[in-house]
Amino acid sequence: MNLRPRRLRKSSYIRSLCKENTLTSSDFIFPLFVRKGEGIKEEISSMPGQFRYSVDTLLEEVDVIYKLGIKAVLIFGLSDVKDDNCKEALDDNGIVQESVKRIKKKYPELCVMTDVCVCAYTSHGHCGIIHDKYVENDATLGLLSGMAVSHARAGADFVAPSAMMDFQVAAIREGLDECGFKTTGILAYSAKYYSSFYGPFRDAANSSPQFGDRASYQMDPANVKEAIKEMDLDVNEGADMIMVKPALSYLDIIREAQQGFDVPIVAYNVSGTYSMIKAAAKQGWINETACMMEMLLSIKRAGANMIITYFAKDAIKQLN
Ligand code: PBG
Repeated sequence: MNLRPRRLRKSSYIRSLCKENTLTSSDFIFPLFVRKGEGIKEEISSMPGQFRYSVDTLLEEVDVIYKLGIKAVLIFGLSDVKDDNCKEALDDNGIVQESVKRIKKKYPELCVMTDVCVCAYTSHGHCGIIHDKYVENDATLGLLSGMAVSHARAGADFVAPSAMMDFQVAAIREGLDECGFKTTGILAYSAKYYSSFYGPFRDAANSSPQFGDRASYQMDPANVKEAIKEMDLDVNEGADMIMVKPALSYLDIIREAQQGFDVPIVAYNVSGTYSMIKAAAKQGWINETACMMEMLLSIKRAGANMIITYFAKDAIKQLN
């Protein structure tokens, strides 16, 4: 009776005491794009403020984010040589492997994660082996597992399979264990939707499918139960953490994940949602910083334990 919610909003001190959710510097994982070469730092036109690095400039960037207090990075390898056997992806001296080795040598405690998918390496841009225009599930598993083992050998703390092949987590866990990488973890892109919000990323990674689309392996945006099934399978196959991707249009799925599974829940604040905010802010239509923080907080509030975001640096600067 006579409950007045505004009593709890009376002053900034009271509001801060009553805050239910907060962002901290340990919430963020920062994605990084790396390619062969030297002295490269090219801005991705559809993702202002994000760059493609060569290993040397990547290390300079890692120094910046390390000093800001970011605890984890997610490495994406880019390839100029498109080859459907993905030799480069499996090469222990490949660009991702080189980056991981150099980062771990200089910053041993920084958590280094690597994306495990072949779409940036294949000529057709699909996430697996193609046969008769169809992405072959089981034929792709060996590639993904080999890639993951190679990343582990380089020193990756977590490998993050994003190809959406059935049994990819089991295949990778088996590969890692057989090769003695029992402490290398798996962050599974479990509920990865067939989303149009990946557009700018595909620009960045030059990884757009050259025919067809990814609807036969990524999930239908209409579905919830399917996400729960995917997450359940991945946890049972040995995923240490599971991911919901994209985060923003799938906050309900993040909530389901947090309530349904006893592993850390990671949410990917994908490229399209980064670029939308950047573009609108450039027009002067929205306040970039305020919208960014509100968006990240909503992902946390929904139930994410960690957020992969291109905004990680900007957000931490705000928190500091
Ligand atoms: C690779 C992969 C993609 C993203 C992360 N890993 C692209 C895709 O599936 O097409 C998208 C990330 C983003 O949009 O920020 N399969």
